[in-house]
Amino acid sequence: MGNGIAHVAARSGLRVILHDLEQRFLDRALGTIAKNLDREVAKGTISADDKSAALSRVIPSTQNGALAEADFVIEAVIEDFETKAKVFAAVDTIARPGVILASNTSSISITKIASKTKRPDRVIGMHFMNPVPVMTLVEIVRGLATSDGTCETTKALAESLRKTPVEVNDFPGFVSNRVLMPMINEAIYCVMEGVGTPESIDSVMKLGMNHPMGPLTLADLIGLDVCLGTMEVLHTGLGDSKYRPCPLLRKMVDAGRLGKKSGQGFYKY
Ligand SMILES: NC(=O)c1ccc[n+]([C@@H]2O[C@H](COP(=O)([O-])OP(=O)(O)OC[C@H]3O[C@@H](n4cnc5c(N)ncnc54)[C@H](O)[C@@H]3O)[C@@H](O)[C@H]2O)c1
Repeated sequence: MGNGIAHVAARSGLRVILHDLEQRFLDRALGTIAKNLDREVAKGTISADDKSAALSRVIPSTQNGALAEADFVIEAVIEDFETKAKVFAAVDTIARPGVILASNTSSISITKIASKTKRPDRVIGMHFMNPVPVMTLVEIVRGLATSDGTCETTKALAESLRKTPVEVNDFPGFVSNRVLMPMINEAIYCVMEGVGTPESIDSVMKLGMNHPMGPLTLADLIGLDVCLGTMEVLHTGLGDSKYRPCPLLRKMVDAGRLGKKSGQGFYKY
């Protein structure tokens, strides 16, 4: 997600400091950005010169200190609260006062992340969708302390990246995963209970509801471990049994069938 966010920011003319733990992760990210920009060149949406200019605006760095010159910070580290808490506490001491710190988290409380900093009014969720260069939505998540000014600046930034910001409040799963994940979980119950095969369930949702992709294909794409993690956030955060993760989802994750990335999920890859 980090390379996708860097891609759209650099393509929109912004200078980007792309920070990661190791140089090899940065090299891989730069390779991905170059490949994805090539796709846009092939489609004719940007020129080869635009591609080179965008790439030259991405400055890779493994040094935390590099963030001292940032005007806006977007965090996209792994979906783990302890990791994000450490990153926000550290970045809070490095970024200039007044700089907004945004998180791309899919489900972790923005209010809780903000509490790890001394600028909770300037912490916000900026939830991009995957793949970032293609999807237009950015869910803008307001924590309890997020100021109006922070929200307006963040929405303006999203628009300058040619995205459509939609503001929501900080509750488990926000809106996107609160609505999407229970649907995927229910589709998995349908497989477990023999209501339909993955193919038939996906066909019903594609042909009958005009979804571009069936829920089980989508679950495989997202990663079944990620789906389970999000259902657990909804279940513990909202305390309602309607969010209990389907036992078949748990079993598949236990078996290492994580979807497309592991070669097998509801489908074989
Ligand atoms: N994958 C998706 O479809 C998706 C969609 C929307 C939002 N998100 C959210 O985006 C975030 C990242 O997800 P991802 O799928 O890109 O994960 P990923 O594991 O592919 O990437 C995480 C990156 O963060 C780096 N990292 C870890 N700790 C770090 C630290 N302390 N400092 C700097 N870099 C560090 C890792 O080296 C890695 O390159 C998560 O919060 C996730 O919930 C993911």
